[in-house]
Amino acid sequence: MAEILGIGCSHGPIILTPPEVWHKGRERIYARVSNYEKPARLLEELGQDNGLSQDRHDHEKIMESFQIMHDKLHEWNPDVVMIIGDDQAENFLQDNLPPFCLYTGEEADGYPFRRAAQTNLWDADPETKYTFRCPKAFSQDMRNHLIRNGVDMASSSSLKGWDWGLAHAIINPLMFLDPEGKFPLLPLFVNCYGEEAGPDYPPRPTPKRCYEVGQTIRKFLDTRSERVAVVASSSWSHSFLAHKFQCREIDIEADQRSLEFVRTGQGSKLAELTPEEIQDSGDHEILNWIIALGILGDRPAEIVDVRDSHTQLAYRVAAIWN
Ligand SMILES: [Fe+2]
Repeated sequence: MAEILGIGCSHGPIILTPPEVWHKGRERIYARVSNYEKPARLLEELGQDNGLSQDRHDHEKIMESFQIMHDKLHEWNPDVVMIIGDDQAENFLQDNLPPFCLYTGEEADGYPFRRAAQTNLWDADPETKYTFRCPKAFSQDMRNHLIRNGVDMASSSSLKGWDWGLAHAIINPLMFLDPEGKFPLLPLFVNCYGEEAGPDYPPRPTPKRCYEVGQTIRKFLDTRSERVAVVASSSWSHSFLAHKFQCREIDIEADQRSLEFVRTGQGSKLAELTPEEIQDSGDHEILNWIIALGILGDRPAEIVDVRDSHTQLAYRVAAIWN
């Protein structure tokens, strides 16, 4: 049996920035929704200071939870860190749009601070480059196993669309979990946004298929001796994607239901979500977690933190599967 540590976390661009600038991102998103009317709970959280007190509180909690996950990861000392994250028209563009793609290169670079032309928590230069070594032979073996066992996994060892380096879903959590690149990094890209990522994009894969992909990865890991940390990288319901609420607010109720399944070791229930439910609640990115759940199997998670404030525009869960 494989030894697997599970980690679930958010990758939202704001996590790299101080809470004093979070309102800018929020305002950009509000501007995207025509005649945006703020829900009552959002107005309450914005309070008298345009949400600054709420943002400072959420920032503190997010930093605390990343510290806990960082410490766990380094204490566990994996041979490979596999990060499952969605590509949002970054590394994958119209010329090639796979539902899933495993990175099989030898190393990967990233410029996490280029993306947002605003202050980052470290006051680092926007051109700061991070390089991560990758487990080439291991990822090729994983890809080959997947294809031979019914999952036609795409792979890339030299991605185009690489201007910023690794997509933010992969590199943002690394800034907290392993910025030094101590552990070999294996990225798995997922087209979570589907048609909503841009013109000519194919539909996102179904929750059922994502879970099966996870289960097949697990079968591969069970043949290996490497100790693997699997990181599910994404927030859950996003307000600007929740069609049930006209893209105005996050679907807390749906996410609380999913959270209970994750907490109690019934992650396989998330594979039963329908594509319509995902679309309605703006849970597009939870597909990353569903793949991780397929790998981890039905084992209870320790929920490190939940951020469900509307000012965050997304439901953020931090979790560890020991
Ligand atoms: Fe995202």
